[in-house]
Amino acid sequence: MTTIAIHNGRVIDPALGQDGIADVVIVGGRIARVGPGEGDAVIDAERIDATGLVVAPGFVDLHTHLREPGQEHKETIATGTAAAARGGYTTVCAMPNTTPALDSRPAVESVLREADATGRVRVLPIGAITMGRQGKELTPQGELRNAGVVALSDDGDAVADASLMRHALEYSTQFAMPVAQHCEDPSLVRDGQMHEGWVATRLGLRGRPASAEETMVARDIALAELVGAHLHICHVSTAGSVALIAAARERGAHITAEVTPHHLTLTHEEVAFDGDYVHLRYDTNAKVNPPLREEADLEALTAALRDGVIDAIATDHAPHASTDKDIEFDLASPGLTMLETAFGLSMRLVHQGRLTLPTLIERMSIGPVRAWGLDALEGLQGLGTLAPGALGDVTLLDPDAEWTVDPAAFASKGKNTPLGGRTLKGMVVATIYGGALVHETERIVAL
Ligand code: DOR
Repeated sequence: MTTIAIHNGRVIDPALGQDGIADVVIVGGRIARVGPGEGDAVIDAERIDATGLVVAPGFVDLHTHLREPGQEHKETIATGTAAAARGGYTTVCAMPNTTPALDSRPAVESVLREADATGRVRVLPIGAITMGRQGKELTPQGELRNAGVVALSDDGDAVADASLMRHALEYSTQFAMPVAQHCEDPSLVRDGQMHEGWVATRLGLRGRPASAEETMVARDIALAELVGAHLHICHVSTAGSVALIAAARERGAHITAEVTPHHLTLTHEEVAFDGDYVHLRYDTNAKVNPPLREEADLEALTAALRDGVIDAIATDHAPHASTDKDIEFDLASPGLTMLETAFGLSMRLVHQGRLTLPTLIERMSIGPVRAWGLDALEGLQGLGTLAPGALGDVTLLDPDAEWTVDPAAFASKGKNTPLGGRTLKGMVVATIYGGALVHETERIVAL
């Protein structure tokens, strides 16, 4: 394995509280040295000039849909992890809403085997909470843990039955695994197509009220506190949910939470309008569950992310085929392709002065690692940091570079983004995974 010396970048390692110009040296797949001039002493290295760039720990995504096994027309482990590398991610946690669902040891092992064979970056599988994600019978949690899952979730659907959810949380304490809930009460959202608000009224679409999320967040917090379990709230989207999570954490409950780049930056208006308020559209690329909300929600989510009430930015990368999206709005599948735009879109908050760059990087690297205790797992010590001895996972960023989103150029099979043709400011210029370059742009200059 080659030695890589990254020279003269602005090294931001939130885990160590480090932010300054330095070299990063990777030897044998691990971080060897970090400091000014450290790269000069290394002989026989592949050298990268990072002058003017930010050098950060590889990003960690708690919420990725890789679609394999079973929906390879939407994404595969190979294409999804290639998209992750282009997005600066070196670790992705793969959601179990595959076909079959990841509810057994063989299903989990098949993902790990495929990731070994074709994955561009690290894949950590998430097991289902219920068999077949049917919401009726619990999965064998110990078996799933032994097979290598890092959390449990029925994401895409909520576990509606409160008693079943209570037992899932109760059992999970034996295995020190977070239970990650997609909080939307199915009896409240029914066949709702977007956020319940004035845009839905204008379009004549049935809405999904904020309360559908908030009642389930409240219920699950109560259940987690009852049994002393670790509950993780997926893709928080409302100001009301933020208040519930903040209060629970204040009480000392073990609640962690994530927010997506799109819920932080896009509102429900995205579905209907593109630039003016005259021409209506029904943009299925902006259809997602939970739905894009209102400006006041975005404000609350941003504040919660800044203050640490929300631990992590997670992509909810949800690739779909054109046959799932280029159809009537109510028939279209929900979800956005997000891995390749997550950094650029999230950087909006930094350029608007609402979040600092080190905080953004924290919430995309060590924040998610700590939320789920991933660095306590075998082989993952040093995940999310550039400390000497840590895994050689590094992302090189140009926070000020502007680029135009071209879905056709995505590595992901999913082209379903409402951002096509838009300019984002903030670019991933290279990604190093385990000491090997897995993504590079022409911005990277070898020395
Ligand atoms: O919009 C969504 N799509 N929300 C989810 O939670 C699941 C995801 C998917 O798997 O397509």
